[in-house]
Amino acid sequence: MKLEHPMGSTPAAAALSLEEWWMPFTANRAFKRAPRLLSRAEGMYYYTPEGRQVLDGTAGLWCVNAGHSRQPIVEAVQQQVATMDFAPAFNMAHPLGFQAATTIAKMAPAGMQRVFFTNSGSESADTAIKMAIAYHRARGEASRRIIIGRERGYHGVNIGGTMAGGIPGNRKHFPAMMAGVDHIRATHDLARNAFSKGQPAHGAEFADELERLVAFHDASNIAAVIVEPMAGSAGVLVPPKGYLEKLRATCDKHGILLIFDEVITGFGRLGTPFASHYFNITPDLLTCAKAINNATIPMGAVIARNEIHDAIVNGAPEGQIEFLHGYTYSAHPMACAALLATQKLYVDDGLFERARELAPYFEQALHSLKGAPHVIDIRNLGLVGGIELAPRDGAVGKRGAEVHIKCFSADKNAALVRFTGDILALSPPLIIERAQIDALVDAIRGALATID
Ligand SMILES: Cc1ncc(COP(=O)(O)O)c(C=O)c1O
Repeated sequence: MKLEHPMGSTPAAAALSLEEWWMPFTANRAFKRAPRLLSRAEGMYYYTPEGRQVLDGTAGLWCVNAGHSRQPIVEAVQQQVATMDFAPAFNMAHPLGFQAATTIAKMAPAGMQRVFFTNSGSESADTAIKMAIAYHRARGEASRRIIIGRERGYHGVNIGGTMAGGIPGNRKHFPAMMAGVDHIRATHDLARNAFSKGQPAHGAEFADELERLVAFHDASNIAAVIVEPMAGSAGVLVPPKGYLEKLRATCDKHGILLIFDEVITGFGRLGTPFASHYFNITPDLLTCAKAINNATIPMGAVIARNEIHDAIVNGAPEGQIEFLHGYTYSAHPMACAALLATQKLYVDDGLFERARELAPYFEQALHSLKGAPHVIDIRNLGLVGGIELAPRDGAVGKRGAEVHIKCFSADKNAALVRFTGDILALSPPLIIERAQIDALVDAIRGALATID
């Protein structure tokens, strides 16, 4: 393939063959005409192959919360690979798996001290769905199999997560892969809530839709509701005040499990270990991944309420495998080593507290973009920000993509900014400094001024 290196592309890519890697969630043909490569990362910055520094405004993909290539994590992984590269976790185990589970259980909400390891957020979502169904079955309610998701929700790309997810583009090509799924409406309400700081005031009543679905399907058929406490991938949708409380109450009333997908919100993003702590609402199952080990080695987990574990595990005959589910790489030793080092670093550096302290500054900086060209909404919570742009006539999503490319390819003050359609999403590493928050916002301001 001939490379033209238009705006945003990386000359070093010319030395590579780009045909073979079928890239994930990428417009492959467009990308390969103008590839953007990263080759090194340290602290708050990525570096391109030719040495350009790019401020990481997105913690990679919402996952590198402690900043890049942190020495204690690097050393832990190096040491582990030399000590024991892999150990099976089916009817065998290694100490690091138990230490990792104990570490996560200690920070999890009270009553949720059972941890099942996966390798990604997608696997966590599908694992949680299976756990919910297995739980009801173990208690003699095998008819409870319907999963309720939410429009604009994102729970990864495996079958359960795709079906429970609510981003139309992601579902369009994969209809009806799983029976028994329904959705409540999304919480986004631009007309009433635009430019809200923190949780918006309007929309708690959107949770009432769950009662409607219960009346429609009957509670005896519904296993679980799965939502992101704060939706990230669909464009940073912060739950309205009172909304999650209502969801929790309706689930309790009807014996439905509440699954919080905390793949983005887990591990300090909102200034607390989990969003469950931030909102003071305890789910029944909590999925996480991403920042669990600073994204060093693929890893995820489902944290279960103790009763859910007990119902499934104690409900099975002695000596039999109780939950017929697991991955070859569940609790991979290197992932566990990275987890232990990462969680220690979070504590040693006080990164969750830091996120909490920085949040008001981040909010103020972000909202200074109000009035900039094309900006129709700004929303934020913790160290997460969303900036919604008016779509260009007949070209929805183009403005978002252009800001992303402009910010990345700027000669000075380049920044990595994520986009979902015309919504820009920010989720910097929790080590970000105030001056870097300013630089990030300036990079976006500059890009907005140059696009039409
Ligand atoms: C809320 C949520 N759930 C699940 C996933 C899927 O995670 P992964 O890409 O690790 O499979 C993501 C990824 O962005 C996510 O944001």
